Amino acid sequence: MNILVLNGPNLNLLGEREPEVYGRQTLADIEEMLRREAEPFHVELRFLQSNHEGVLIDAIHAERKWMEGLIFNPGAFAHYSYALRDAVASVTKPMIEVHLSDLLLREEFRHHSVFQGLPNVRLIMGRGAQGYLSALRLLADAV
Ligand code: DQA
Repeated sequence: MNILVLNGPNLNLLGEREPEVYGRQTLADIEEMLRREAEPFHVELRFLQSNHEGVLIDAIHAERKWMEGLIFNPGAFAHYSYALRDAVASVTKPMIEVHLSDLLLREEFRHHSVFQGLPNVRLIMGRGAQGYLSALRLLADAV
């Protein structure tokens, strides 16, 4: 199974960015955890982090035939990027939207995600880096 792991803006600073909210693990640590978790499932992973909306959209388009599932932490784009929502809707692959923090316990502008309501999208939030591992297991079990 092929899974694309996308991370959006500011997630390159994990580990040093607001560690009381997002934890002390870096994105490289999380990617390594995912690689190890994927091995027994025979899952092939591709990773991309970008601070740019268009780069994330391009990656979804470019990998749409290769990927069978998508793990995506869109960062703040979750709250307002209809262009990313449209990209995810266009490819109709199962996606797990991951947020390290629990959006409902934070500022009101974070309570809404533009991806929710799409039939191919499920949400995992508030479980820190473990949320990415749960997403991988959910996708691997589903296909
Ligand atoms: C986040 C939550 C977003 O609201 C925020 O903009 C982020 C990180 C999370 O993983 O908890 O950048 O997606």
